[in-house]
Amino acid sequence: MKTITLPRPDDWHLHLRDGAMLEAVLPESARHFARAIIMPNLVPPVVTLGDARAYHQRIMAALPEGMAFDPLMTLYLTEGTDPAEVERAAASGLVKAVKLYPAGATTNSLSGVRDLSKVMPVLETMARIGLPLCTHGEVTDAHVDIFDREAVFIDTVLDPLRRSLPELRVVMEHITTEEGVAYAAEGGDTLAATITTHHLIINRNHILAGGIKPHYYCLPVAKREKHRLALRKAATSGSSRYFLGTDSAPHVDALKEHACGCAGCFTATNTMSLLTHVFEEEGALDKLEAFASRSGPAFYRLPVNESTITLEKRAEACTWPEKIEAAPGPVTVFNPGFPVHWHVLP
Ligand code: NCD
Ligand code: ZN
Repeated sequence: MKTITLPRPDDWHLHLRDGAMLEAVLPESARHFARAIIMPNLVPPVVTLGDARAYHQRIMAALPEGMAFDPLMTLYLTEGTDPAEVERAAASGLVKAVKLYPAGATTNSLSGVRDLSKVMPVLETMARIGLPLCTHGEVTDAHVDIFDREAVFIDTVLDPLRRSLPELRVVMEHITTEEGVAYAAEGGDTLAATITTHHLIINRNHILAGGIKPHYYCLPVAKREKHRLALRKAATSGSSRYFLGTDSAPHVDALKEHACGCAGCFTATNTMSLLTHVFEEEGALDKLEAFASRSGPAFYRLPVNESTITLEKRAEACTWPEKIEAAPGPVTVFNPGFPVHWHVLP
């Protein structure tokens, strides 16, 4: 019997939604994670400190008795965002980052940014006060192939932005390509990247070969196998540039299994078992702690959690519910397609 004990992990990119969906999915994250960076792409989005406070209260109210969880709030950057509001939000201690969605890039991103020059005063303020910018790193130009959108974003948006504002602290969210891995590696200490659980497990064949699998569809979309391998190498390298952001993104089955299906994989339930499996496959169990528990807090300038989590490898495979029964409808839990033997101990 093999066990591994880590400081309690954090999730540096999480969608909790609101209302009845929030109630259903929050325990799935709070069971294993101490903190999470909470994405602000609600309808309407979380744009002011007041919105973030109210959402924080709704999250805490939805947390079941006896569970501990610390939601780290973010603001959704719009072309109307006031730099002074962002400064107040950071000073309050409640808001830990601002999220950049290129308008139209993904779920609920229509209030996002079309013209980066319009938000430069906000970004300058963030650079001055050290507040990180979390970027959804895909261009939205219809002429750019969806599998190239991350690499093109790095060349045409991210790199020029970082050259013009070198002090700005940036997190490349959910990188999916070897270009993303390479860019994050060279960025110095103002740059980091999150990697999801599912992008370490699936490539684009899992979505498209042998029938379309809507539950593997997310944005950025999974790429070719060589990119998955680059992500695995980065995540298991022990480098502080890469850390876990699950991007667990619940949608009800009716909207996933649809003629125009929503993007998002729901991995909150089984991420820690899956990650441990991946790190063991890569011969890097000793690097899991850096990826899941240490490098994220280091970038966000927060302490590592004092409590711990233990996983145990057992002969019998883990089981988890196929679906989480939320009031708006069932949400399918990510299925890795292979047995996993690392059980999280209660
Ligand atoms: C996310 C969602 O559903 O909110 N979907 C996804 O595929 N990852 C949005 C996002 O992070 O792009
Ligand atoms: Zn996301």
